[in-house]
Amino acid sequence: LQLKDHFAEQFKIGAALSEAQILDKKPGVLDLVAQQFNSLTAENVMKWEEIHPSPQQYNFSTPDKLVSFGQKHDMYMVGHTLLWHQQTPDWVFEDEKGNLLERDSLLERLQLHINTVLGQYKGKVQAWDVVNEAFNEDGTLRDSKWLAIIGPDYIEKAFEYAHQADADIALYYNDYNLFKPAKRKAVVKLVKQLQSKGIRIDGVGIQGHYALDYPDLNEVENSINAFADTGVTVMFTEVDVSVLPFPDEDNQGADISLDMALQQQFNPYADGLPSDVEQQLAQRYKQIIDLFIKHQQKIDRVTFWGVDDGQTWRNDWPMTGRTDYPLLFDRELQLKPFVKDIIN
Ligand code: G3I
Repeated sequence: LQLKDHFAEQFKIGAALSEAQILDKKPGVLDLVAQQFNSLTAENVMKWEEIHPSPQQYNFSTPDKLVSFGQKHDMYMVGHTLLWHQQTPDWVFEDEKGNLLERDSLLERLQLHINTVLGQYKGKVQAWDVVNEAFNEDGTLRDSKWLAIIGPDYIEKAFEYAHQADADIALYYNDYNLFKPAKRKAVVKLVKQLQSKGIRIDGVGIQGHYALDYPDLNEVENSINAFADTGVTVMFTEVDVSVLPFPDEDNQGADISLDMALQQQFNPYADGLPSDVEQQLAQRYKQIIDLFIKHQQKIDRVTFWGVDDGQTWRNDWPMTGRTDYPLLFDRELQLKPFVKDIIN
């Protein structure tokens, strides 16, 4: 059973790969990826801090490997991401003396970065998450150095530069919690704003970091419809479903490996997933996949944020050292039985 073939008529099926996976340090993963998926995203290695860590240095070696693997297997490659408030080195915003740049100099730097990265992957990467996570939960623009130095038009500038650098690629806005009405509204407004100015935007990426009871899928559906109504395509770009309890603020960021009490409370399935929870996960995934299928005309791609439960950011967030089960393949790289049931 191959996911990419099963969903061939509906949408592309993608996965994000970590550096270790790209470098084939986890035996079996790349073979599995080639069989099962037809789209790939870099989980980290194309982010600014990784691909362009200092002014004169571009690290293309690992992303190049990802891209040539994808090309070899005829996959739809998605770059992630050109502009983000996280994982961007401080030097980007400063001159040699450590003073914050002026608007024009930062725009120049942004354009140079975009030109260089898109130039490297011209004809090889078909789409980019141009801007990632620009909004707060209430729909206002997130406070960041991009906003502080450039002003709110930094988003349109990034899309313009990307289009100028490569007119053949699809350009996306990508964010989480887009089921929230205020955030949904802000993104709809952004898309319309870009469109009214004649700036290219092809799609909205709904990340999809979900849990058993979160979020309300009716609100997710409202967002699919709202984005599609603007005329852009919709993607689910980072899907995973955590089964673990979400810690209160005091415990967020804790490394639980040395703390028995925390382990009992927050890492209940270290020795395996009990069948009732597996059932809940199965049901949740069925509802999510049914929603995707219902809106297949609007959804171009569904990408999972990882391949198997052994390598997922969920094991290390919002606490480190946990054992989560958020993906479609288990730690032995086997497709979970419930997935077979869902798609049969
Ligand atoms: O590579 C270094 C390693 O050398 C070092 O020893 C180690 C110690 O902390 O850190 C390693 O880097 C980590 C990197 O992942 C690679 O594993 C970073 O600390 C860690 O912060 C980073 O986390 C990534 C996170 O983005 C960064 O904010 C996650 O893997 C990645 O899954 C996550 O992905 C984001 C999307 O880009 C945007 N949407 C949300 C999603 C989940 O947060």
